[in-house]
Amino acid sequence: MNNFELYNPVNYIFGKDQIQKLSELIPANAKVLLAYGVGSIFKNGVHNQVTNALNKHQVIEFGGIEPNPHFETLMKAVQIIREQKIDFILAVGGGSVIDGVKFISAAVHFEGDEADILRKRILFKEGANVVPFGTVLTLPATGSEMNSGAVVTIAATQEKLTLGGSALFPKFSIVDPTVITSLPKRQLQNGVVDAFTHVMEQYLTYPHDAMLQDRFAESILKTLIEIGPSVVENPSDYKLASNFVWCATMALNGLIQKGVPSDWATHMIGHELTALYNIDHARTLAIIGPNLYKVMFETKKEKLAQYGHRVWNLSGNVEDVANDAIDKTINFFNIMGMKTRISENAENIEKTADFIVNRFEERGWKAMGEKQNITLEKVREIVEMSY
Ligand code: NZQ
Ligand code: ZN
Repeated sequence: MNNFELYNPVNYIFGKDQIQKLSELIPANAKVLLAYGVGSIFKNGVHNQVTNALNKHQVIEFGGIEPNPHFETLMKAVQIIREQKIDFILAVGGGSVIDGVKFISAAVHFEGDEADILRKRILFKEGANVVPFGTVLTLPATGSEMNSGAVVTIAATQEKLTLGGSALFPKFSIVDPTVITSLPKRQLQNGVVDAFTHVMEQYLTYPHDAMLQDRFAESILKTLIEIGPSVVENPSDYKLASNFVWCATMALNGLIQKGVPSDWATHMIGHELTALYNIDHARTLAIIGPNLYKVMFETKKEKLAQYGHRVWNLSGNVEDVANDAIDKTINFFNIMGMKTRISENAENIEKTADFIVNRFEERGWKAMGEKQNITLEKVREIVEMSY
């Protein structure tokens, strides 16, 4: 097992009727920026619950954080915080709002061009350099509620870039599984597939000796396979909802990644598809993931076979089980409503591979993946296979 440090300071508050605890979680004298998306929290009652809980706090609202949050939008919030001397941010929403708030938190005290936070991948490690924030999660998918990473789009240049650092963990996250009842089917499907792929990025590499991590990963995958199709049809079933939400958090709160190699190339390529064509994040993963497993078959076949045996109960020789496991994955994504080709999700896609390879080249990304052997030629092959 590789050496690791496990640091996760998030106060994770799970279950029904937890939003009322907000008043105790945010310092009483704090001036709060309540940040949210494009309106779902008004329709499903979450805004009411939050503002009722904060009726003794001084609250300023900032709405309009779009899916795949834009740097340009977030900078408006940064300005408000600087002008109004706000000391705490509350993110109420899905991954986009939470990620947006992580960026806002980092940008407020940043000296220089705030776009450099993204372009130069500056790490935020000092609590004093960021504005503290908490979250109320409304969409299980990204794990952003319990990790310190974020993804932000610079709309002007169509770049979707990451930021993070140990100072960017939420102080707390309130995770009430009943909030998923108002999610559109498409977003529920996205949540299952995003969480599933997070596990795959950290699991589907090569055999190693972190036995417990493998079992953690496999149990999350098996649970998502078991509940995914039914939670989409019946999100008000609390048993399904609560297990789904916990799987999504566990998939990307850092735990399963400890001591093991990880890949993340599916996400890196997928982000470009969102930046180019505005395809939902999870849907880009369903397109790229299986083709990446095919192109990197020689590197990944042993772990694919383990995944096939343990997660899909397949038997046979390594190559056959590995191939069947990829087919099972595609089939699962299809059941979850994913269309696994770029052309089914966007138009005029002929230059996609050129564009992505050029971009990676410009950024100096020569190779990626757990063995750093997903070269730009491989990236091209994966993208072209995905047309
Ligand atoms: O904006 P509102 O009105 O809130 O509507 C949202 C949005 O339209 C809606 N929604 C959220 N909760 C709802 C709801 N509608 C009804 N009822 C509810 N309870 O759902 C839509 C999508 O929301 P969004 O936050 O964009 O989705 P998601 O949580 O999937 O987040 C995606 C973003 O997270 C990034 C992605 O790249 C993408 O930008 N990721 C963040 C990660 C992280 N921080 O660790 C890791 C992930 O791999 C991912 O990259
Ligand atoms: Zn993801």
